[in-house]
Amino acid sequence: MTMHEALPVHSQFTRPVNFSGHWLWGAAPAFNADPIGALMAAARMGRIVRLRFFNASAYLLREPEDVKHVLVDNHRAYHKGYGLQALKPILGEGLLTSEPPLHTRQRRMIQPAFHRQRIAAYADIITRSAEDHLATWQDGARLDLHEELMRLTMVIVARCLFDVDVSREAAQVGRAITDLIQMFDFNRIGPLGQLIDRLDLRKQRERNRRLQVLDDLIYTMIRTRRAEGIDHGDLLSTIVLAQDEEAPSIADRHMSERLARDEVLTLFIAGHETTAIALTWTFYLLAQYPEVEAKLHAEVDALLGDPRHPRRRLSWHDLPALEYTRRVFAEAMRLYPPAWATGRLAVANDEIGGVSIEKGASVLISPYVTHRLEHLWPEPERFEPDRFAPEEEHLRPKFAYFPFGGGPRRCIGEPFAWMEGQLLLAAIAHRYQLQVAPGYVAELDPQITLRPRHGMPVILKQRNKARVPEG
Ligand code: HEM
Repeated sequence: MTMHEALPVHSQFTRPVNFSGHWLWGAAPAFNADPIGALMAAARMGRIVRLRFFNASAYLLREPEDVKHVLVDNHRAYHKGYGLQALKPILGEGLLTSEPPLHTRQRRMIQPAFHRQRIAAYADIITRSAEDHLATWQDGARLDLHEELMRLTMVIVARCLFDVDVSREAAQVGRAITDLIQMFDFNRIGPLGQLIDRLDLRKQRERNRRLQVLDDLIYTMIRTRRAEGIDHGDLLSTIVLAQDEEAPSIADRHMSERLARDEVLTLFIAGHETTAIALTWTFYLLAQYPEVEAKLHAEVDALLGDPRHPRRRLSWHDLPALEYTRRVFAEAMRLYPPAWATGRLAVANDEIGGVSIEKGASVLISPYVTHRLEHLWPEPERFEPDRFAPEEEHLRPKFAYFPFGGGPRRCIGEPFAWMEGQLLLAAIAHRYQLQVAPGYVAELDPQITLRPRHGMPVILKQRNKARVPEG
């Protein structure tokens, strides 16, 4: 794993530093070859760094107040950047990719799906799915943790979205989406990448065919639900039955079928890979820090008893007692935030810290970078969950930590993700100690999400009280 030099302390100035790069391509080759290395190198140069990609400018921000400016204080001056726009052919006008006023309306209609009582009901689905999945694991087995967690989180989001009774269709949708994601070349981001993509006609046809299969499945589910008119208590019911009380006429109150499809697909895609990645890196870090792992085991054992004879399954009510588990998950997302960078496009002229941001320029923000600022995070590369002890947390400025973004585009699934992360981490750590396979060297694969390149091979060690904790 690459260790980075610490980032310098916040300097006050009003002119951007230029990251020149190649005379013609600018920073593009450096970012193509090693996106995270280039990002860290650029961030080390100053508070606001102007990057040139061909003839387009992008400003890299790293300080919490600048991040807050873009995401909260002056969010109206920005739209989603090229990276997320590249997902529009699949996700349409879903929450992740749409813009106001449509986004504002859709968010209002979908928000109830993430209210506290709804989330509590999903906890049971999560712990039951974890139990089913862990029943397929065996002491001494070697497996790809990233792949396993992707499968588990996909089953969970499918059950929470579509209700367990339709798990056959949910599995079909899951498979169709996986195929589609694999077809998507996430390196083709930005206007040029999108143009190249459009010229590849064979790929376009294949992608459209698969999208059609997926659409048929989703539209059938939406129509069946709408005809039934019954609330199943899942996400699909919220979307299908949602009514916009502020709509100008009764006819406009329901979400159109097309928008319902876009939202279902968005929640399905945004709702599993990020959590799977966060947990994969969490177990990777635990394997390097046995003293942290021992404290985590002590917490889950105190709650559930001897791993050989667990007293019961975890539930929503256990979350307050899983405090150290929460800190571990939070600290892993500090070091390896699944959504490692996000871009915005200035739709109006703006000014950040005295620097003019011209309309049409891009702005880049990266939790990966900000989460390593030394004046906010001493010894930034060290994995130390107690940084998230409540008395420490409130000492840091807002946006020193933002794995879920912020402002009106903050992750809608955040409460779900925290609960899922805590419950899955505790359920797995209670039963197994995960050892990273000998000789494995983790490498970052920064696509839209921060995946481990070549997966994450681990060896399972069933825990029993007599031999834990192991170093
Ligand atoms: C550890 C897990 C997760 C992480 C790190 C994460 C991260 C993020 C981030 C950073 C954004 C904002 C992107 C931007 O501003 O450009 C976002 C948006 C979003 N996320 Fe998550 N997410 C996670 C889990 C989930 C889950 C479980 C769901 C759904 C069940 C979900 C659904 C969404 C949606 C729909 C949006 C768009 C929100 C909007 O713009 O209104 N995410 N997520």
